[in-house]
Amino acid sequence: MMKQARTMGNAAKRIVLHPLQADRPGRSMAEEVVRGLSASPKHLPCKYFYDHTGSLLFEQICGTDEYYPWRTEDALLAEIAPALIDRAAPRTIIELGSGSSRKTRRLLDACETAGRYPDYMPLDVCPNMLAASAEDLTEEYPWLRVTALAGDYTLGFSQLSSHRSPALFIFLGSTIGNFPDHELGVFLSGLRAVMHPGDFLLLGADLEKDERVLQAAYNDAAGLTEAFNINILNVINRELDGDFSTDGFGHDAKYNRAQSRVEMRIVSKWAQSARLGRCDATFLFSAGEPVLTEISRKFSPGRLRDLLSAAQFSVDTLHTAPGPSFALLLATPRPSD
Ligand code: SAH
Ligand code: AVI
Repeated sequence: MMKQARTMGNAAKRIVLHPLQADRPGRSMAEEVVRGLSASPKHLPCKYFYDHTGSLLFEQICGTDEYYPWRTEDALLAEIAPALIDRAAPRTIIELGSGSSRKTRRLLDACETAGRYPDYMPLDVCPNMLAASAEDLTEEYPWLRVTALAGDYTLGFSQLSSHRSPALFIFLGSTIGNFPDHELGVFLSGLRAVMHPGDFLLLGADLEKDERVLQAAYNDAAGLTEAFNINILNVINRELDGDFSTDGFGHDAKYNRAQSRVEMRIVSKWAQSARLGRCDATFLFSAGEPVLTEISRKFSPGRLRDLLSAAQFSVDTLHTAPGPSFALLLATPRPSD
């Protein structure tokens, strides 16, 4: 009993949770939601999926048979982790969009085996998930110190530039695929800008594949992806004093082959309106009207190389898992041209 209490105390002392400092002023949630619902066609930012309930639903999606990306990336990571840790020799592991940090354990295990004890800096928009995963990790890894940053990484993260090098930056899950076109380059260049010579980036990205596999992955039989998608309305209702009827919207996820991306929408089942009290605004939806909630790109290896190259990275190694395929790219910051 005493021993457990002491271990728990030590674990808590090794966690610091800070807000992420934004580099630029962002729009408020009210502004973003009003803007998206006033557009034609309507859309919503996918970061609003991730309240605590949404983050837990995402975790459950990752456990479904249909959602291959999680287990494919996890298996590939387990395979490459020992050599990767040997090569990157990190004193810090910095993870963007860390969520539950479950896959990160593959890297921490490899560090432990190699006798390396880096600090861990997870960054996520969901503070509850950050706090819960930091607690779990510090209990599992008695040497681990966690500095967690809660905030929106699309508003910049120059705060990360004062890290202890060499650092291994990781961005897993193919979350890079959820960025709109104009934000992809900005994000990768921003990442490049905070990296020092000798740092590495490990980027996880889902690859193009058979449409039927994709269709199933985003329409799981248990309805978890549907619940995750519709949950965005619960978040809006709670945060913006909304009166969306969650029963009035259905789930739609389809592969757009021309754009190599899965597009997820909520679809109004009938003509209806919804009011957002905090914004003093009412929105009308016609029967069958869609609201785009997420894009999930499926990349080619060539496109990934081009994106990284345009953001001043050199690709060191491209690891791919066989079908359904997924890529892990190890890249280094290239000196500025
Ligand atoms: N890396 C984990 C989780 C992926 S889910 C994995 O591979 O399984 C995407 C994660 O990114 C979620 O935890 C979500 O909260 C976070 N996220 C999404 N948009 C974000 C934003 N704009 N800023 C910071 N974190 C964000
Ligand atoms: C986090 N992100 C990469 C997931 C994806 O596959 O685009 C989110 C998700 N959406 C539906 N299912 C999972």
